[in-house]
Amino acid sequence: MGRHRRQRGEPARTQSPTTTLTVNGEEHQVSAAADATLLDVLRDELGLQGTKLGCGRGECGACTVLVDGRAALACIALASRVRGHVETIEGLAEPAKALRAAFADTGAFQCGYCTPGQVVRAAGLIRSGAVPADDRDLRHQLAGNICRCTGYQAIVEAVRTAADATAAAS
Ligand code: FES
Ligand code: FES
Repeated sequence: MGRHRRQRGEPARTQSPTTTLTVNGEEHQVSAAADATLLDVLRDELGLQGTKLGCGRGECGACTVLVDGRAALACIALASRVRGHVETIEGLAEPAKALRAAFADTGAFQCGYCTPGQVVRAAGLIRSGAVPADDRDLRHQLAGNICRCTGYQAIVEAVRTAADATAAAS
């Protein structure tokens, strides 16, 4: 197809704005459209579909990622405003191996829809060394991630098991 030449009076074609996002150690040029959320960009542009869409309004934690090591909700973060290194469940698959194994061993998931968000939040907690000694406090730390299936006790056990294993290995 020939190159399009703008005719007199024809409005200039606007290019979609882009922004640089660092995800799982790689830089990407991604959409900086005013309404593009980090979740949209991760799932639809970068094909990282491990981060889930649940409520879409910051209430369930299914879309949890880490930004510079801290848990963040990708469904309410505008992609153009994100600064820092984003880590998704795909990027944490290897570092969070012990945690994933603990989830499996303790039966900390059933349908699995909330599990990526749970694992990402817990991985951030364990890495920062901020896992509370008391289980009630740990539940409180994990409270931003809703699970409709498990009743939470197995999730707390899994995080505790992985945190203990990490501490013992260091
Ligand atoms: S999908 Fe983001 S908090 Fe529910
Ligand atoms: S395992 Fe089903 S919502 Fe958590």
